[in-house]
Amino acid sequence: METLRTVGELHRFSEAVRGRGGRLALVPTMGCLHAGHLALVAEARRRADAVVVSIFVNPTQFGPGEDFESYPRTLEVDLGKCRAAGVDAVFAPPVEELYPPGASTTVEVAGLSEGLCGRSRPTHFRGVATVVAKLLCAARPDVACFGEKDYQQLAVVRRLTRDLCLPTEIVGVATVREPDGVALSSRNLRLRPDARREARVLVRALEAAEALVAAGERRREAVLAAVRVELAKAPSAEVDYAELVDAASLEPAPELLRVPTLLALAVRFPSREGPGAPPVRLIDNRVLRPECAAEEPS
Ligand code: PAJ
Repeated sequence: METLRTVGELHRFSEAVRGRGGRLALVPTMGCLHAGHLALVAEARRRADAVVVSIFVNPTQFGPGEDFESYPRTLEVDLGKCRAAGVDAVFAPPVEELYPPGASTTVEVAGLSEGLCGRSRPTHFRGVATVVAKLLCAARPDVACFGEKDYQQLAVVRRLTRDLCLPTEIVGVATVREPDGVALSSRNLRLRPDARREARVLVRALEAAEALVAAGERRREAVLAAVRVELAKAPSAEVDYAELVDAASLEPAPELLRVPTLLALAVRFPSREGPGAPPVRLIDNRVLRPECAAEEPS
C-alpha cells in the first residue's frame, strides 16, 4: 500500500491505474476509521480495480466552537486498517496541500446545504463541498463511495458532481451500526458513558416512526410526535432537529406523507471530556416509505 502526501503523487497514482486500463475508486474520510468506513472500502473494492482512501481532517467544514481541535487523529492505526482491508493507496496530505496559501475558491451547493445540519452549521457544507470537489479533481476516480448516515452530505456531493460535470459515479452505502443500533461514528468515543447508553434513542425514534408509517400513519405531526416521545427518553440529550423532509429535494414534508420521506435527527450529548468541552452531536436518519406501506386506517 502506498502513502501519498501530495496532489502530484495522487495524480500520478491515478494516471498509473488508468494507464493499465483499471477503474479507480475513492473513499474520502477524516480518519479514525471504523467498520462504517471499512464498509465503504469494501464497496469500493467491489466496484473498482484500485482503491484510494483519503484521510484528511478538513478544517473548513468545522465551525467556530466545533470539535476540529479535538477531532481524533489516529493515522498510524488507520494505515494499518487500510492495509488489512486491501486498500491500494492512502492519500493523507498536510493542510497546505489542499489549501495552499491564498486559496480562495469555494464550492457552495445552494438549497440542499441550507436545511437540517446546515441550519446550525451554516458553513459546514461549503467546507464539505469544497474539499470533496478538490479530492474528486485531484484523484479523478471512476467511482466514489459515501455513507448514507450522512444523508444530506451524500445529496450535496451528488449535486455538486452533477453540476460541476465531474465524471465520477457517486455511490451511497448503508449505515453500519453497533450491536445496540447506534450508528458507528468516530464521535461515539467522545460520549460520556451515560450519554453513550442514551444515544440509542436515535435509532429507537427512527424505528418508532418507521413502524407507525408501516401501520398506515400518514400525518407528519403524528410521526414527529412519536419521534419526540422516544427522544425525550434520553435526559442528557438536547435535540438540534428532528425533521421530515422530501427524500430527494430535502424540502419540508407536507402535512400528509405520500412519497419517500427522510426522517433526519441531530441530537447533542454531553462529552466525556466534561462540561467545558464541545458537546457530541450525533446524527442519524431513515427514509420512510409511506407509498409502500399499509393503507391508512379507516
Ligand atoms: P467521515 O466522518 O470520516 O466519514 C467518511 C465517510 O464514511 C462518509 O461518507 C460517511 O458518511 C461514512 N460513514 C461514517 N459513519 C458511517 C457508518 N456508520 N456507516 C456507513 N458509513 C459511514 O464524512 C466525512 O468524513 C467528511 O465530511 C468527508 C466526506 C471526508 C469530507 O471531509
